[in-house]
Amino acid sequence: MKILVTGGAGFIGANFIFHMMEAHPDYDIVCLDALTYAGNLATLESVMDKPNFKFVKGDIADRKTVFELFEAEKFNIVVNFAAESHVDRSIEDPGIFLRTNVLGTQVLMDACNEYGIDRFHQVGTDEVYGDLPLDRPDLFFTEDMPLTASSPYSASKASADLLVMAYHRTYGLPVTISRCSNNYGPYQFPEKLIPLMIANALADKNLPVYGTGENVRDWLYVEDHCRAIDLIIHDGEVGQVYNIGGHNEKSNLDVVKIILNQVGKPEELITFVGDRKGHDLRYAIDPKKIHEELGWLPETMFVDGIKLTIDWYLENESWWKNIISGEYQDYYDKMYSNR
Ligand code: NAD
Ligand code: TYD
Repeated sequence: MKILVTGGAGFIGANFIFHMMEAHPDYDIVCLDALTYAGNLATLESVMDKPNFKFVKGDIADRKTVFELFEAEKFNIVVNFAAESHVDRSIEDPGIFLRTNVLGTQVLMDACNEYGIDRFHQVGTDEVYGDLPLDRPDLFFTEDMPLTASSPYSASKASADLLVMAYHRTYGLPVTISRCSNNYGPYQFPEKLIPLMIANALADKNLPVYGTGENVRDWLYVEDHCRAIDLIIHDGEVGQVYNIGGHNEKSNLDVVKIILNQVGKPEELITFVGDRKGHDLRYAIDPKKIHEELGWLPETMFVDGIKLTIDWYLENESWWKNIISGEYQDYYDKMYSNR
């Protein structure tokens, strides 16, 4: 079995490669990644020399590169993680989100059609369902909800999902889509809430909470996510969408307070800053379908996962300090000064 993992030098893709190499040591894995600001070869160091792993630097939207790779490798399964993934960046510069997330997905599926595969799996997001009100804790995202989008990021991911389903219906491409909630865990780029707050707390810097901090996210430990995708690509039904997440809802303010408490820093570091434009209020997954059909449920509750995550960032300071000492500083100054 040969699997193409796109975006595998990023946060979730890399964790998925580690999961697959452990769970299926007989599989061959090829990672295609453009190594944008979010891709990091240091993350893949532990697998780089394995005989059943190959890294290819390339852009999923580059048709020639993608077609040559498919021609040479004859993949059985493609799992598409490659994307521009940060909402705040999409508000500043939407164009690259459309190119990578929509057109890149199209190029991959064209290659699948041309060379034949058993499964194309699209890694999606629950942000394509829009948001839920804060005062209706009884409401959850289900797979049959209409797609809507608040940010250029979620619009690009919703567009990609529609295209994936269109390729299934029109060309019979054997696809599945998963839509997960906010991931956290080792190797997450420190522009996202949890690693950013851990890094700032450890450096005694202010923790910039957008708006009131009441916005709610449904936190999914990355290993639980990888396990779910492993199940879907093997046992999931072609043409189906599976939501992944559930039962780990927290307000941003609570998340930040938990981090401060765990690293022994004062709550006075919390600074309320200007709100994100179009800021989604609440995300919450109903995992009934994947639970009933594939027997999956999240195993790591937030209280345990956040401890594992903080311990990882404490033990792997050089990984993230390397990132925040580079061009990340310019990004941080641009996004957070005068906010
Ligand atoms: P990430 O930003 O950490 O990594 C993205 C990876 O894709 C990077 O390695 C980057 O170099 C690569 N990439 C970007 N553009 C590319 C291109 N044109 N060609 C090839 N590679 C390219 O993202 P992540 O957090 O690991 O997210 C992975 C996937 O999961 C994305 O599709 C994202 O939309 C989805 N997702 C993420 C979350 C989350 O909480 N992180 C939640 C829901 C869905
Ligand atoms: P983020 O990690 O960017 O994920 P997403 O936007 O995909 O949910 O943000 C998670 C939540 O944290 C979101 O409500 C925005 C908020 N947030 C802050 O309050 N401060 C920050 O510095 C960041 C990056 C996010």
